[in-house]
Amino acid sequence: MIKIICVCGARPNFMKIAPIMRAFNEKGVFETLLVHTGQHYDRKMSRFFFDELKIPKPDINLEVGSASHTVQTAKIMKRFEPVVQNFQPDYVLVVGDVNSTIACGLVAAKLGVKLIHIEAGLRSFDRSMPEEINRLLTDSISDLLFVTEQSGIDNLHAEGIDPGKVHFVGNVMIDTLMANRKKAEDSDILSRLDIQAKDYAVITLHRPSNVDNMDTFEQIISAFEHIQKDLKLIFPVHPRTRKNIKAADIGKRVKAMENLILLDPIGYLDFLCLMSNSALVITDSGGIQEETTILGTPCMTLRENTERPVTITEGTNRLVHITTDDILKNYQQIKESDFDVSGRIPKFWDGKAADRIAATIADNY
Ligand code: UD1
Repeated sequence: MIKIICVCGARPNFMKIAPIMRAFNEKGVFETLLVHTGQHYDRKMSRFFFDELKIPKPDINLEVGSASHTVQTAKIMKRFEPVVQNFQPDYVLVVGDVNSTIACGLVAAKLGVKLIHIEAGLRSFDRSMPEEINRLLTDSISDLLFVTEQSGIDNLHAEGIDPGKVHFVGNVMIDTLMANRKKAEDSDILSRLDIQAKDYAVITLHRPSNVDNMDTFEQIISAFEHIQKDLKLIFPVHPRTRKNIKAADIGKRVKAMENLILLDPIGYLDFLCLMSNSALVITDSGGIQEETTILGTPCMTLRENTERPVTITEGTNRLVHITTDDILKNYQQIKESDFDVSGRIPKFWDGKAADRIAATIADNY
């Protein structure tokens, strides 16, 4: 048996680990230990996803919780080291680009255990993003790097990573989307919110550069004040953003918008249903740019860069400067096209990425 520790910690990790655990289980040659770092711990940010996506209950939860990035990363490392020492795995597998990814990756490297990185090679080329540092460092110490799009191969090549370690397998997040798309159609979220398909936009915002900086956040809020006159805005709010909305001025302006509906974070199936029926998605997330590409929903990404360029060259995504004017200009353009933007499905985003990963690891063992 191939002994492998699979790590997850924050919300976007859960959709990625689900198909990997399934593929490992089906292959029958893996002995897995699932470790949850506890980076995300609210029921709505964590437990919900395990139940809905049928992810096995974590064997170990490190329960690190929130702290500064340094303290969070250090705490994960300290608590993860004895887990690796006890289990004696052949591999540690990490996904994505969150603090749990680099923390556990570094522990594996220090203990001389082979490291696998899922979603390797993505680069925003913006080192002020905590995730960019996590990506660069994790890739530089990984032994097997699984890539979602051609840009990942190109970036790793430019950084001098041995091409023999790099495998283009597609996107595990899309495996999860495809496996759950039908089920999501049964969600009653539209009727619960009393909205009709294509009559609303979905918003998500959580990036510190957008919601911790009040000037930037106000530019975004001003744009929403205009857009909500046309379209209902459905906004499931991340805990970080919720704190900042409570800040005096923004809170009042948000409350005053009749057509802006704030929700607590929602589950995967409800969110998938909301995105696939919406006229438009406005976001600063990484993964949502990929999901809207598959769903064919227009996506405005409120960022200056993206580490997922295929969502623009082939998908339905566009980058928007974070000024009220630019958000409204792009909104108008999409509205004039009747919210109909065409795209195509990127290579290997076919629901089978996790199977390719399991097969490649078994072949390399
Ligand atoms: C993290 C990831 C980011 C990912 C995002 C998705 C890093 C560097 N960032 O950002 O890449 O896109 O998750 O959500 O790893 N909080 C709660 N309950 C929770 C979790 C967090 O209330 O379950 C609050 C805490 O006050 C915390 C804040 O949210 O301080 C931020 O959480 P944290 O895990 O530090 O980063 P995210 O902003 O969620």
